[in-house]
Amino acid sequence: MYQLSPSILAADFACLGKEIKEVEEAGAKWLHLDVMDGKFVPCVSFGMPVITSLRKVSNLFFDVHLMIEEPERYIKEFKEAGADMLTVHAEACRHLDRVLHEIHNAGMKAGIALNPGTSLSAIEEVLGLADMILIMTVNPGFGGQKFIPYTADKIRRLKKMLEDRNLTADIQVDGGIGKDTLETVMDAGANIFVMGSAVFRGDIKENVALYLKQMEEYEQK
Ligand code: DX5
Ligand code: ZN
Repeated sequence: MYQLSPSILAADFACLGKEIKEVEEAGAKWLHLDVMDGKFVPCVSFGMPVITSLRKVSNLFFDVHLMIEEPERYIKEFKEAGADMLTVHAEACRHLDRVLHEIHNAGMKAGIALNPGTSLSAIEEVLGLADMILIMTVNPGFGGQKFIPYTADKIRRLKKMLEDRNLTADIQVDGGIGKDTLETVMDAGANIFVMGSAVFRGDIKENVALYLKQMEEYEQK
């Protein structure tokens, strides 16, 4: 199943509620929430209070991307704030196996994210524990960056690894995804598409509709 997961990092934070409504009305089912701690990545973004507020006004699936060191410190808090899925970076967890179990035990889906420079071998052993693998297609930390072309081959190799093991985890891509790159990552085998600038710059409803249509047409091919 293909999903568009609009990233609010590119939204206008002065009217987040309104912009999220637009995303929902245009037909998106997921919302990507980028939490940054100023340590794992250079920027600080937002945390639980913002997610708690958004939960009250939205029924979207909250796909929370944790760009924070030792994310296991906050699993319960993110669950209480309203997260449906927590994606943690392999690079930020010393005990990845344990963290994935803890996320599941807290009642959420669990994803693992990999920076462009981190090899797939870092997650090979725990592939069966993840509901989703996030292949970063830029270095995390900022919106509006350029897609890194070599990540397409990594998506292909991950897809093969999953198939070889009869696993059905989703493959998410994040960073520089939009009209020039969507086809490339669909061809490579990704099925969950994070888009910040591509959705929130310009007319939000038109953008969401456009990309949902492109995804649907591709899926039916
Ligand atoms: C980057 C974040 C992304 C970001 C993507 O570190 O993880 O989710 O919002 O933004 P775009 O789609 O503009 O590259
Ligand atoms: Zn993200």
